[in-house]
Amino acid sequence: PSPLPLDVLGRPLRDLRLSVIEACNFRCPYCMPADRVPDDYGLDAASRLSFDEIETLVRGFVRVGVRKLRLTGGEPLLRKRLPELIARLSAIGGLDDLALTTNGALLARQARALREAGLRRLTISLDALDPALFRRLSGGRGEIADVLAGIDAAQAAGFDSIKLNCVIQRGVNEDQALPLAERFRGSGHVLRYIEYMDVGTCNGWDAARVVPSAQLRDQLQQRWPLRALDAHYRGEVATRYAYADGAGEVGFVSSISAPFCGDCHRSRVSADGRLYTCLFAADGTDLRPALAQGESALAERVAALWSRRADRYSELRAADAPRPQRHVEMFLVGG
Ligand code: GTP
Ligand code: 5AD
Ligand code: SF4
Ligand code: SF4
Repeated sequence: PSPLPLDVLGRPLRDLRLSVIEACNFRCPYCMPADRVPDDYGLDAASRLSFDEIETLVRGFVRVGVRKLRLTGGEPLLRKRLPELIARLSAIGGLDDLALTTNGALLARQARALREAGLRRLTISLDALDPALFRRLSGGRGEIADVLAGIDAAQAAGFDSIKLNCVIQRGVNEDQALPLAERFRGSGHVLRYIEYMDVGTCNGWDAARVVPSAQLRDQLQQRWPLRALDAHYRGEVATRYAYADGAGEVGFVSSISAPFCGDCHRSRVSADGRLYTCLFAADGTDLRPALAQGESALAERVAALWSRRADRYSELRAADAPRPQRHVEMFLVGG
C-alpha cells in the first residue's frame, strides 16, 4: 500500500471534493456572472471523467488517506445518471462519509433517488428567502419556491443531515441573515453563514462587501442567545454554535476573518480530472495520465503531488503576504 503522504506543512490528505460537472443552471454573480459565462457554457460530455474513471479515482484517493468525499459542480444534479454514480461510490470501502453540495433547484425530483442510492448528507446553497432577491442572486435563473420544495423533499426522503450554506454580502443580502435563521431554527437543518471570498477571477470581489462572521454572530445573539460548541473533528471548516433555547445549531465559515489553512486536509478535482490542492490555486494538475494506468498509479501520483503542497492562501491573505493573484473558477472546483 502507498504510504499516507503529509504535505510540506505536515497536513494529511483526508477530504476529496470532486466536481462531477462544470455546468450550472444558475448564474450567481459571485461565481458565474451571466455577462461573463455564456448560457451554454460547459465541456462536451466526453471531456468529463466517466463513472468508471471517477470510481477508480476515488479508490486511488482512499489509498492515500481520503475518508470524506463531497460531490460538487457547477451543479451536480445536472450530471446524467448521478444516482448510479452515487451507488457505486457509496460501496467503496474506507470512505466514511459521502455528501453532496447543490443549489437545490432540481432537488425536489431527485431527492428520493439520491437517498436510495446511498447518499446521506446534503448541503444546499441558499442566500435569500425573498423571492425577488433570490431570483437576482441566481442570475435570474432560480426560484426560491423550488429550493424550499427541494429541502422538504430531502427531509421526506430521510437524509441524516441537511445543511444550508448562506453567503452574506454587505449591501446585497444582509437583510436576509435573520429571516434565514428564523426560518430554519428548530427545523433540524443546520444553517451556516459563509464569508464572501475572493475565489475565482470573474466575480469582482470587493473586501468592503465581506460581512465578518463576528458581526453576524452578534446580530444573531441579540435575538437568540448562542452557546459555542466544540468542533466535530479536527479541521472542521465551520465554527458551531447552539441556540441556547434548544432550537438546534448554526455555523460560521470565516475564511476571511479567521483562516483555517493550518488544518486544511482538502483536495479538489475538477470534472475533467485536474487536481487543485487549494480553493485559490491558479492551476490544477491533470490526473488523467496516471488515472489511465489504474488505481495504484493514481494513488502514487496524488501522493507525490500532495507531498509538495504548501498552499495556505487564506492565511497569506490575512497577513497581506504575496500570494497567487489568479484563481481557479469556483464553478470548476465547486467550493
Ligand atoms: P462538512 O463539514 O462536511 O459538512 O462540510 P464543510 O463544512 O466542509 O462545508 P461545505 O463543503 O459546505 O463548505 C462550506 C463553505 O466553506 C463553502 O462555501 C466552501 O467554499 C467553503 N470552504 C470549504 N472548504 C474550504 C477551504 O478549504 N478553504 C476555504 N477558504 N473555504 C472553504
Ligand atoms: N464566496 C463564498 N462562498 C461562495 N460560494 C460561491 N462563491 C462564493 C464566494 N465568492 C459558495 C456557494 C455555495 C458553495 C459551493 O460555495 O454559495 O454554497
Ligand atoms: Fe452555480 Fe453554485 Fe456557482 Fe451559483 S454558486 S453559479 S449555483 S455553481
Ligand atoms: Fe485550504 Fe487553501 Fe482554503 Fe487554506 S485557502 S483552507 S489551504 S483550500
